[in-house]
Order: sequence, then C-alpha cells, then structure tokens
Amino acid sequence: MNAPEAAALEPIETASRDEIAALQLQRLRWSLRHAYDNVAPYRAKCVERGVHPDDCKQLENLALFPFMTKSDLREHYPFGLFAVPRRDVVRLHASSGTTGRPIVVGYTQGDIDRWSALVARSLRAAGVRPGDIVHVAYGYGLFTGGLGAHYGAERLGCTVVPMSGGQTEKQAQLIRDFKPDAIMVTPSYALVIAEEFERLGVDPAELSLRLGIFGAEPWGAGMRAELERKLGIDALDIYGLTEVMGPGVASECVETKDGPVIWEDHFLPEIVDPDSGEVLPEGSSGELVFTSLTKEAFPVIRYRTRDLTRLLPPSARAFRRLDRITGRSDDMLIVRGVNVFPSQIEEQLLRDARLSGNYQLVLTREGPLDQLEVRCELQRACSGTLPRAEVDAIARAAAHHIKTIIGLSSRVTVMDFDTLQRTQTGKARRVIDQRPRPE
Ligand code: DLL
Repeated sequence: MNAPEAAALEPIETASRDEIAALQLQRLRWSLRHAYDNVAPYRAKCVERGVHPDDCKQLENLALFPFMTKSDLREHYPFGLFAVPRRDVVRLHASSGTTGRPIVVGYTQGDIDRWSALVARSLRAAGVRPGDIVHVAYGYGLFTGGLGAHYGAERLGCTVVPMSGGQTEKQAQLIRDFKPDAIMVTPSYALVIAEEFERLGVDPAELSLRLGIFGAEPWGAGMRAELERKLGIDALDIYGLTEVMGPGVASECVETKDGPVIWEDHFLPEIVDPDSGEVLPEGSSGELVFTSLTKEAFPVIRYRTRDLTRLLPPSARAFRRLDRITGRSDDMLIVRGVNVFPSQIEEQLLRDARLSGNYQLVLTREGPLDQLEVRCELQRACSGTLPRAEVDAIARAAAHHIKTIIGLSSRVTVMDFDTLQRTQTGKARRVIDQRPRPE
C-alpha cells in the first residue's frame, strides 16, 4: 500500500491490538449497561443469571452474560427489544426468516450514520473510491441489502445506481450504458447477470466493472473464480445480518482477498460451541456470536448468528477476519446421517470448469433412506455441444468427488444451460427438501 492509500484509512484500522481492546472494553461496558437499563427482557435474563453490567471488568467477562437468540426477537415482536423510545427510531428493517413472524430491527439516526460509515469503509477496503459509479442490485425495501449498500456508497462519495433486484435485461443494459465501476449484489444473482451478458455475446473485457461486492448468502472459492472470469472483476466478500446491522459487519480487502475483516471497533465476535454455548479457544470452528458495541436503537448482546465459521488473525487491517461461512447450524442438511452444507457440494461441482455455479439439491425419501439428487448445469458454451457420453462422464466424476470427499452417495443430473430456475431478487434457493417431516 503506498503512502496516500494508507493515509486514507481510519486510524483504528491500523491501531495496535491493545488500543483496539481498550476501545472495545470501554464500548462494551456502555453497550451492556445500555441494554440492561433499557431492554426489560434482556435485563430479566441477566437478573435470572445473577449478572450485572458492573461485572464486566475485562473483555473475557462477556462470557458471563446471557445470549440473545432469534426466538427472543420473535417473542418480543415487533418493537419489544428496542432500547430507545419509538420516536427516536428513524428506520425499520425486517427479515422474513423461513417460518412464523418476521424479525424487526430499528435504527436511530446515529445508527444509520455509523452503518453508512461502515459500509463506506467496506467499499473502500474492496477498492471502491470516491467518484466511482456503484450499481446496487441488492433488493431495496425491508431487506437491509439495498438501502445498506446505497447509503454506504453515497457516504463514500460514489454515484449510486439504485437498481434493486430483478429485471435482468435492464440490469445488463444499465451496466453497459452507465458503465459502473462496481456492482453490489448476491453472488447467485451476479451469476444470472453474467449469464445475460454471455447470452448477449458481451465479452467481459468490454465491461466497465472492476469490482463486485457480494454477500448475503454463502459462496466459495469456485464461485469467486467463476464470477471473476465471467465479469472480468475482482470479487469481494461482504458479510452481515439484519439483527446485527445489515451488510458491512465484516468485509474483505482487495489487496489480500483472504476473508471479511470484522469491524471489531463496532462488533465484538466470539466463537461458541453450537450445542453447549461454551466459548471456544481462538482459531476454533464453531458458531459465530456478535455483541454490538455502538448500537443505540437495537443493541445485541451475544447474539447467536447460527453461522458456522472461525476467526482468523489480522492481515491487511488490525482487525480479525472471518473464514468462509461454511453454512448455518440450522440449514445444515443431514442426509443419511451425514452432515453436509450446500456450499460443500458446490465446491465439488465447480472443480469441473464445464459446470456452472447453478445447482439445486433435491432430497427425497425412498423407504427408510434419504436420497440426494444434485441437479447442476453445463456452462452455456458446452450446452448442447458435448456428446451424451461426455455429459454422463461429468456426472459420474462429480458424484465420485461428492462420495469420496463428503462421504455421501448422490445421483448427479447434469442439465442443459438455463434449465434450473434462476433467482430474480436475491438469495438462491439451493435446497428442495421433499422428505416427510418427522412426526
Ligand atoms: O443478508 C445482510 C447482507 C446484505 C449481507 C447484503 C451482505 C450483503 P439477512 O437477510 O438477515 O441479512 O441474512 C443474514 O445471511 O446470518 C448468513 O447466514 C448469510 N450471509 C450474509 N452474508 C454472507 C456472506 C443479510 N458474505 C444471513 N457469506 C447471515 C455467507 C452470508 N453467508
């Protein structure tokens, strides 16, 4: 990094670990006190556990405090966990989840300012600069993706194209006409847009795009390579969740591309055993837990994200990083007793460059046994041109990799390009589970 580049970073991004820890402790004590004083259901949990914010004398003492979970949010729907009067809440967002009530979060003006600044910091880390054009194809609305990206890009001083999701032909047209430098979108929908360029016969080298900032769903190294090749960009990973803020809790640096840097001056991460809740030693894999250090309207203390990953040491910044999210403890599939995440199957499929990143896992039950069918697609260039025998060989090889690496027998069906349904607005639906529910 040359001198003017480094100078543009905020001082805390290159501070010593001691300075970071001192700031975290001061903010943690404020946040615990704020939640305790203003969020009655959380105070009740603390009282039941016999802990008080004054018990937090060092960072490790956080482990004494009770967790917050998604069921707490559902139980106190819609505003029961807000820590400020409703009139101080300037924005609401919500996440639908898969069942039942949505979860609702609120932001004060100060929260929106800090969120924008953190997304601006994330974009900067990804290589976006003031004056760049940023095409936002995350959905706008209750989902945090669109508005979160939008405010951050504006804050950095970019020209924002608030395209939102869907209307793939129009996405492609605006990208060609407005010539954005960066695109922000889910990786699965980025692939749909890339395929539209292929259909139009547009060479990635002709596109103005330099950078893609992708998140909101798990994606792996194979998908990164695929998106970089098809769009002629550097593809960067951005992580976040509604409950903790939205996009920009952690984000990757373009110079290292080695996992999202957690903005630890605002969010304190822990890794716990998903079953016992015990804090695990530094570097272990487990469930990611976050405590907000500066949120006013909706503080979260030890929020169980359900995301499985591990913390990596600092590299391009002074903060620790997230390893790839391997999945969620609640979307892990158990197929004939084997624990498997969709991203593990994706990784095996993408070993063959003739297969695209579009796939679906269909689970059924025949008699007592689970059956897994992996539906995947050929790249457009191979579709309809390969002899049947070769397509069969691709399917056999993929099934072999899945069997030997993951330990799971499956039937792999290789389909023509554009057979599987594409996501239009956001996160891909990778799993169709048709197995009967347990009684
Ligand atoms: O997906 C916020 C977001 C928007 C992040 C745009 C990044 C970009 P939710 O809809 O509440 O919020 O979903 C949060 O999505 O717990 C993870 O399981 C997953 N997730 C988000 N980012 C990543 C990522 C937004 N980069 C849930 N890699 C999280 C893997 C991710 N999983």
